Amino acid sequence: MKKAVKCLISAGPTREWLDPVRFISNPSSGKMGYALAKAAVESGMEVILVSGPVSLPCPENVERKMVNTAREMNEVMKNYFPSANLTIMSAAVCDHRPASTDHHKVKKLEVSKNITLVPNPDILEGLGKIKRPGQILVGFAAETERHLENGKKKLRQKNLDWIAVNEVAEGKGFESDKNEITMISSTGQSIFFERGEKLLLARKILDAVWP
Ligand code: C5P
Repeated sequence: MKKAVKCLISAGPTREWLDPVRFISNPSSGKMGYALAKAAVESGMEVILVSGPVSLPCPENVERKMVNTAREMNEVMKNYFPSANLTIMSAAVCDHRPASTDHHKVKKLEVSKNITLVPNPDILEGLGKIKRPGQILVGFAAETERHLENGKKKLRQKNLDWIAVNEVAEGKGFESDKNEITMISSTGQSIFFERGEKLLLARKILDAVWP
């Protein structure tokens, strides 16, 4: 049992609001992050799950913090990160948000004139900068091309210990119940997990990053 281990996990998409009825987001279902939270609790870890808007129930014995925007997720992650032993960032954070959010519904004909995007903070990169020795930081990379090469680049760029790389294609990744993952470590290890249920993959990922 991994009783004394505090595990912080992010999951799901973020929403970036243009006005009270419109947002930019992505098709992340949160299933991978929720499966990780469930598997981490099963292994005896203490789990905090920071979740974007998804329709999944909170796994038993998991403390869940619901957030909406990338900036909210950033605040909550930064708050819990210092006391976490293991942090896994599986959320599909929107890279951009509208430059401003209107408090009133924007008129239909005005919408296209109003969308200027600005970059969101890279939450994971920020955590990588304040990581202390002994803390393990894991990221995800959903890639449509040259996935291993791009994954390795992100591992270095964001100062991660591990990155879980998956190829996004039909029936893989995002909304699917199944996934196929290659884990790459900062020490040069590479482990391939063949296509399987996200809960089974979650258990394997945890065994790799926190043996
Ligand atoms: O660079 P890319 O978005 O592909 O990196 C994916 C990883 O970075 C994921 O772990 C994701 O949760 C994290 N990320 C983040 N903040 C962002 C964008 C991505 O933490 N703004």
